[in-house]
Formats: sequence, structure tokens, C-alpha cells
Amino acid sequence: MENVRREIIRFGINETYNLYMYSIADHHKSCLSINTTESDSTGTRLYAGGHVGIRFIRYLLNNASCNHIFDTVESLRVIELGCGVGIVSLLSFLPRRYLLSDRINKIILTDGFSEVAKIAELNYNTFKSEYSGIINDNIEVLTQELQWGNKENIIQLIDSVNDGKKFDIVIGTDLMYYNVNVTELLDTVLALILPDGIMIHAHHFRVDGTKRKVIDYFTAIGWNTLEISIEEFIESNELINHPEWYKVNVCISACNDKIQLLQTQHPNWRIFNSFDEGEDDFNDKDFKFPEL
Ligand SMILES: C[S@@+](CC[C@H](N)C(=O)[O-])C[C@H]1O[C@@H](n2cnc3c(N)ncnc32)[C@H](O)[C@@H]1O
Repeated sequence: MENVRREIIRFGINETYNLYMYSIADHHKSCLSINTTESDSTGTRLYAGGHVGIRFIRYLLNNASCNHIFDTVESLRVIELGCGVGIVSLLSFLPRRYLLSDRINKIILTDGFSEVAKIAELNYNTFKSEYSGIINDNIEVLTQELQWGNKENIIQLIDSVNDGKKFDIVIGTDLMYYNVNVTELLDTVLALILPDGIMIHAHHFRVDGTKRKVIDYFTAIGWNTLEISIEEFIESNELINHPEWYKVNVCISACNDKIQLLQTQHPNWRIFNSFDEGEDDFNDKDFKFPEL
């Protein structure tokens, strides 16, 4: 892990963390050189979806009007997919200052690539030793390699780290990258999540047609997705410095009944749509020049 360096992550002026990731230059270099299906180095830095995702999860945990989302059970088990450097779940759930952080019982950080999973583990160990005063020690955190779509890997993970039980919450940020296999990813979510669980996710969708694939997948299994405006939970004075955060779609996916209930409680949360995507089934034989 010779390329990892410490970098400051800020929340306002009083909350900062110094954690490990690749420098921007090393990240770009490794993404350009070794990205194949066997190796992916996108996870060596925290992405915009991650920054936004942390703020959204904190908002859900700390805002009384959202607490009902976590009401299903007393102690919640969380799994993060494609966790990269691990910072999203660590900074979302571990600080004790969040009202509901004591309801979290276990967090499993997963990534398909060993180099990246090692950075997540390094960040957890650093976080535990250097920020012990502010973190909730009762939460068990484990790091595991998990390749999406690998059924054996998924069953073995559920058995080994969670006594064969599925998870209440699945987290995923910036997973809709180039070349993502949406079916493998969402099959993995479905294999890991309890029927009344929720997926909290935030992505910059890079490829046209990917939103449609997500919507179609969830529709087919009787799930739906709500989208939440980032302006609801990030202050304008922070957003003004991060225009790239506006590209992130912040979502909650769950079974239709749960989504309907959430929508009545949060009328501003809208059903996620793909209206801004290019027409992926455009057929030029149907195209006619407009008459002048
Ligand atoms: C763009 S990065 C996002 C990292 C982090 N979630 C964030 O928001 O900063 C995508 C992550 O997904 C992981 N990933 C990509 N394809 C995967 C697969 N098939 N199985 C498991 N992890 C995968 C990568 O290793 C990487 O950590």
C-alpha cells in the first residue's frame, strides 16, 4: 500500500478526519493503467457520491422526521458494497454524535478488490485508534472482499460474518461507474438484504441507460426508489464549493409498500426516474426531419 497518503476530510469547520487514500495523481494513474474486469482501482479515493452519501446517511440518522426509516428492529446490521477506502460507512455511522448511531450493531465493509479492501481496513484501524473518543465502540466493524454476482462468495459472507442472517441496510455510493454490471450488483443487493430492508445509495450515473436498468430491475421484483434532493440535507454554503455533488442522485430503494409509506411521510422525495437519460432504444428508421 505504498501509494496511500493521508488526506483531510472536512465537515464544516469543526469536524475533520485524516484518513488514507491515493493522491489524485496516483489514483488517475492507476485507474488509467490497470482497470480490467479482474482489477479496478476506482476505489482508491473517496468519490463525490461518497461525500454526498455520508451527509445523507447522517441526515437520516440525526433528523427526527427520518428516524422512522430505522424503526424496523432495535439493532441494525449494515453492509456496504464497493466501499472503496471505507470512509462512507465509517464516517456515517461510527461517530457517537448521531442520534441513532447506537442502534447500529454491525457494519460490514465490502469491496471486490483486495487492494481497496485493505485500505478500508487501514482506515478503520486508524479511525478506531485516533478518534476513539468520538466513536461508538459498540459497533462491530469488519472488512471483507465481496465480488458482486459471486453467489458462493455472498452465501459464505452471510454465514461467516452474520450467522446466516441477512442485512437491514445496504449502502452503496458511486457504484454506477463505467462498465458496471447492474444485474450482478442488484442481484447481490437482493441476496444480502432482508425483505423489509432498505438500500441507501448515491451515484453519479456515468452511462446513459443505467438509470433505466436500475428502475427496470427494481420494478420486476416489486421494489421502487425515491430520490432525495441534495439541497434538503447539504447547506448551500458547502454545496457552492462542490458543484460536482449536483451530479449525484441520492436514492432509497425498498419494497413498494415501504416506498409508498416513505413517500407519504416525505412528499418532497420523488419517485426516481430516467427522464434525463438519452433515448437508448432510439431507432433512426423512425426519425423524420421536421417540416420547415
Ligand atoms: C467508483 S468506486 C466508489 C468507491 C466508494 N463507494 C466511494 O463512493 O468513494 C467503485 C467501487 O466499486 C468497487 N467495485 C467495482 N466493481 C465491483 C464488483 N464487480 N464487485 C465488487 N466491487 C466492485 C470498486 O473496487 C470501487 O471500490
